[in-house]
Amino acid sequence: MEGVFLALALAYLFGSIPAGVLVARTYGVDIRKVGSGNIGATNVLRALGWGPALVVAFFDVFKGGIAVLLARAVGVEGWLLGGVAVAAVLGHNYSLFLGFRGGKGVATSFGTLLFLDPVLALWTLPIGLSVMLLTRYVSAGSMTGGVAAFVLSLALGRPLWEVATVFLMALLIFWTHRENLKRLQAGTERRLGERVEVRD
Ligand code: G3P
Repeated sequence: MEGVFLALALAYLFGSIPAGVLVARTYGVDIRKVGSGNIGATNVLRALGWGPALVVAFFDVFKGGIAVLLARAVGVEGWLLGGVAVAAVLGHNYSLFLGFRGGKGVATSFGTLLFLDPVLALWTLPIGLSVMLLTRYVSAGSMTGGVAAFVLSLALGRPLWEVATVFLMALLIFWTHRENLKRLQAGTERRLGERVEVRD
């Protein structure tokens, strides 16, 4: 029981590290007050450009991946491993270091998926990326990626714990993108790479 708690708590802690806030702070910017207010790479790109955005994307993927990788290294598998993946995403979305606020969990979900099921992750990536590049809406690509991962987990006959994990992560992606959905409907969503003025 202690081991279960430790695995989940560590994953949550890893997920909680707010790379976007930390990287933007080195430029003197509070990323939560710029653009969409999100702490993810998309908003860092709007405010600070590709270099910082790629650093944030890498770290947000990495922290999800390392949470799953470490859990696997100590023998965690199945439902508990799925719990570890979700805990890392919840850490990103409801960070301990940001008063239980945070990001939208797309990069971190992808990082966990890379180590939960690399085949599924690598099928999902081009689907999400194509929608993102065709529409030039990152949010549309993110939500499509969530749906694609779930559908693929069913199509590839993955075990129930994995299907449930991917389903939960997709639900979380839709929940965290509820403002994006409103903006997409209203036609006010910002396109990929659209810059915003940084006043800090
Ligand atoms: O991964 C987040 C992305 O899908 C949307 O980010 O800043 O446009 O809300 P943003």
